[in-house]
Amino acid sequence: MKTAKQDRVLIFDTTLRDGEQCPGASLNQREKIEIAQQLVRLNVDVIEAGFPIASPDDFCSVKAIAETIKGPRIAGLARCLNKDIERCAEAVMPAGQRGRIHVFLATSPIHRQYKLKKDKAEILKQAAASVRYARKFCEDVEFSAEDASRTEPDFLAQVTGAVIDAGAATVNIPDTVGYAVPGEFGALIGYLFEHVPNIGKAVINVHCHNDLGLAVANTLAALAAGARGVECTINGLGERAGNCALEEVIMALRTRHDRFDLSTGICTQELFRASRLVSRLTGMVVQRNKAIVGANAFAHEAGIHQDGILKERSTYEIMRPQDIGIDGSELVLGKHSGRHAFSDRLTKMGFKLKLEELDHAYRRFIDLADKKKNVYDDDILAIARDEMEGDLAGGGAYQLDYLHVSTGTSTIPTATVRLRKGKDVIQDAACGDGPVDAALKTIDRITGVRGKLLEYAIQAVTIGKDAQGEVSMRVAFGDDMVSGKAASTDIVQASATAYLNCVNRILQSRALKA
Ligand code: KIV
Ligand code: ZN
Repeated sequence: MKTAKQDRVLIFDTTLRDGEQCPGASLNQREKIEIAQQLVRLNVDVIEAGFPIASPDDFCSVKAIAETIKGPRIAGLARCLNKDIERCAEAVMPAGQRGRIHVFLATSPIHRQYKLKKDKAEILKQAAASVRYARKFCEDVEFSAEDASRTEPDFLAQVTGAVIDAGAATVNIPDTVGYAVPGEFGALIGYLFEHVPNIGKAVINVHCHNDLGLAVANTLAALAAGARGVECTINGLGERAGNCALEEVIMALRTRHDRFDLSTGICTQELFRASRLVSRLTGMVVQRNKAIVGANAFAHEAGIHQDGILKERSTYEIMRPQDIGIDGSELVLGKHSGRHAFSDRLTKMGFKLKLEELDHAYRRFIDLADKKKNVYDDDILAIARDEMEGDLAGGGAYQLDYLHVSTGTSTIPTATVRLRKGKDVIQDAACGDGPVDAALKTIDRITGVRGKLLEYAIQAVTIGKDAQGEVSMRVAFGDDMVSGKAASTDIVQASATAYLNCVNRILQSRALKA
């Protein structure tokens, strides 16, 4: 017989670990804390904050999150190696009882043979020994059988039983390469429930990648078969094609409660805000037709649909925008709004700016309100994000001080740029294919850092001809890739600022590595 407790699904968010492994989506410590705070508002059960042994930066971020974030459990990832486990234990320790060490080891034949060069007995031994070792530091230990979906089911059952005996409270069954299909993955979870005698002593998590676009479907199949933990990321961010999207699995469980009869603790009204925040901080644009949080998710274009919606919403709408936190009352402030109203709105949107950033953001808001009749939430989000971006490299960052472009049908596009770096002011000029190219080339000349523009997209932040344009770009600097975003009513200025954000990020990351 099922109990109420068994029907509760635990949400393990790995946006800050697996999500951050998405090429170009790197986050600094402050941004990670900002996202972690939003995950608290979402009420996730576990935040996987990073992989402490991976770099000093990762270690510091996990530790800072363990120190500051209250509520969810804070997990750090570690390979089944003592040095990884020790480093991870040190990073999650400030979370006290809420700290978790998450160890992983590949179990599939292909990983055993080619990557680890170990046989089954050695894998079993190493997995159990590492869980035991991690338990010396922490009550809450999770074990992940990497590439579980391509592992022989009987061996996976053996490993699962052994790590539970060794003290793992959670066993994660990942579909690491997104190879599984739903019937098969659900059956694998069912098999484990039938063949692992001590399985009732642990929570079974699943961690599905989206290489075949099946991450959410596989996760739902696993839940139907008895799994009670979901590892997922905001906007489905993650390695390659990403992970199971948190917002999708949550809304599927909620909308189809009739099928699953499962609940989570997630505050769904925070989903949209979480999606926006992660998209802005990582620079990873959410596609317009993305389920749940895409700009078109609740837009009804066809006349026949609009007619139906006006008569009765449920004709074409299976969820309400309010359920995910789109309240429809987005017009918020105008040029007569005071600093207090502006700062209050920012706090409600989940931003915590430093005093000087708030002053600067407010000045920008007033400037914008002078140019633009209506200032929307999205305008304010764009300003707040720009402020945080400006903080990235602290006082050593380049800032755009002056930009002039001349362009036209019979003019060679030329840009004059003046940058400020601490007390230094440097200016230069260059020609280009167009005004954006000219501005970016001038920035290259001034900074001496040459970037290759890989992706460039521009989107209106809100409706209206006077809307701010938000530029998102991905830039390669040698082997390193970074993303940047910036918004302005002047799209050349937005492009130059977004590019400068990328330059600042790469300079900061090189300085940290040096
Ligand atoms: O995809 C995967 O297998 C992982 C593990 C480390 C959990 O991310
Ligand atoms: Zn993964």
